[in-house]
Amino acid sequence: MVAKETAWTTYWHAANRLDSCIVRPGQQEGDQKAIFGFWREFVKGCPSGGRLLDLATGNGAVALRLVQAAADLGKDVTVNAVDLADIRPESYLTEYSDFANLIAFRGGVDICALPFGDQCFDGAVSQFGFEYAPATSAVAELARVLRSGAPFQLLVHHKEGALVAPNVAQIAEIETLLGSGGLVDCIQQLLAGTSSMDALEGEGRRLLSENNNQLPRITAEIFAAVRQLLTRQDLDLAIRIQGAADMRHRLEAEQERMRQLGHAALSGDEADSLCRLMTDTGLHDVAVQPFHVGSDQALLGWQVTGRR
Ligand SMILES: C[S@@+](CC[C@H](N)C(=O)[O-])C[C@H]1O[C@@H](n2cnc3c(N)ncnc32)[C@H](O)[C@@H]1O
Repeated sequence: MVAKETAWTTYWHAANRLDSCIVRPGQQEGDQKAIFGFWREFVKGCPSGGRLLDLATGNGAVALRLVQAAADLGKDVTVNAVDLADIRPESYLTEYSDFANLIAFRGGVDICALPFGDQCFDGAVSQFGFEYAPATSAVAELARVLRSGAPFQLLVHHKEGALVAPNVAQIAEIETLLGSGGLVDCIQQLLAGTSSMDALEGEGRRLLSENNNQLPRITAEIFAAVRQLLTRQDLDLAIRIQGAADMRHRLEAEQERMRQLGHAALSGDEADSLCRLMTDTGLHDVAVQPFHVGSDQALLGWQVTGRR
């Protein structure tokens, strides 16, 4: 069992991982363009010299887009970017070198208890992050730290969105890989000397026939990794055992993140409730609408906007 924050920390501590879940396979260019345009529009409404807040920033995808858009628009903005996970984007991504002095990252921060004074931000944003926190406290903190009139813009998971729908099948896929007698068990036991190659080959055959020889993405990746662990006889056994344990940990973390995503996603009624809560908390002009991307106009999430 992987803890909530650990699942994300594991994810963010990887080289060159800027976004978590906005890019649909095969649709990168169109999706990125739409998302960049969305954040660029937000920056247009912010004052030059403004101080912005990116909530649940991950590796800072939005923080980076904000400062890039501001530079394009000839504006100066600085961004405070916070996340509950132990984030360290400066160490893992090269993108920040040009903007390092404009973005202040801070990990271990719950957006329900922000370490900032009242009314100190000129704008706040979040991309698939705000909805992971308990709404009442997160909204109260958002309202507290924004200056009067300051805008906010959130991109929030949609229960029927393109990112959420494939989740259920992928959670089940990982369950099979991690389950008792599953592929990960087989390779760990084989390396530990408590099981034979026959068991591993049997599980491989079973997975292939169950999936009509067309392995789903995660299973295919694990197959490839298992093959590597078996063929790298040049590596110390201890290293290969550790490799198999790491594989299990990464899969558990991925499954935990997918579960969180499923819980965080909002239905239409839930999105309306969030807007009502925001209005009741003293935020103004709160509005929600579906957010579409790409030439196929795929539903990606909800956009929630308003001001203090
Ligand atoms: C789907 S990721 C989005 C990250 C980033 N905004 C992006 O678009 O790439 C969700 C993030 O929310 C963070 N998170 C979840 N609950 C949180 C909380 N209560 N306070 C701060 N961050 C939180 C997770 O650690 C994770 O990094």
